[in-house]
Amino acid sequence: MIFAANFKTNHTRKSTELYIEELNEKLGAKKPEDRVYLFPPATALDAYEGDFKVGTQNAYPAVNGAYTGEIGLEQLDEFDIRTILIGHSERREQLGESQENVAEKFAFFQEHDFEIIYCIGEPLHVREKGFEAVMQYLLAQFDGIDLNYDSLIVAYEPIWAIGTGRSATIEEISTTHRALKKAIADKPLLYGGSAKPANIKEIISIAGVDGVLVGSASLDAESFSEMILA
Ligand code: 13P
Repeated sequence: MIFAANFKTNHTRKSTELYIEELNEKLGAKKPEDRVYLFPPATALDAYEGDFKVGTQNAYPAVNGAYTGEIGLEQLDEFDIRTILIGHSERREQLGESQENVAEKFAFFQEHDFEIIYCIGEPLHVREKGFEAVMQYLLAQFDGIDLNYDSLIVAYEPIWAIGTGRSATIEEISTTHRALKKAIADKPLLYGGSAKPANIKEIISIAGVDGVLVGSASLDAESFSEMILA
């Protein structure tokens, strides 16, 4: 299983260090085949030691240059960051990233051999239209994306389940993952959206779920490690 923590705009460099110290104490008990990823904010990126990979929540598709407020490959190379989240709904919706922007970013980081966790997810009004509309919406988020890329992990995160405390139902996760697996073949598929210690066992036992991408419940090392060890 894959357990990925997306801190979003939470934690500082100092609190990330303390978090990792605490996590490392717990990770000794994790199954060797389970993989852990941490996505701290950009100011806390560093070359940390531990049984996990550190990735960036975002970056600009350039080595360096005149992109005010952005970080590029040069800044990631400093800490040997080789993993990136692309397509998160918060970047699509709040930062206005279009499918074209997302695909351009994907192509750049693919070219640089990054491991990519590529996020897709539908808003509530689409879910309410029914399953066919959901799949049409989700598959359109694969436009311009090379699904045969070796280092690709896909994360399905229904927007209405993010940060709401209300995860998708087992049935919703199960049917959506089954349909998505047809498009992405053997690539790992994570679920994200209010995954937490109380529902983790149920979620990871669903066929077609290869792990979770966790926001709120990952902010506390104790809670995130409880999920990994569940
Ligand atoms: P929550 O776990 O807070 O719902 O966030 C999920 C998410 O967006 C992870 O990328």
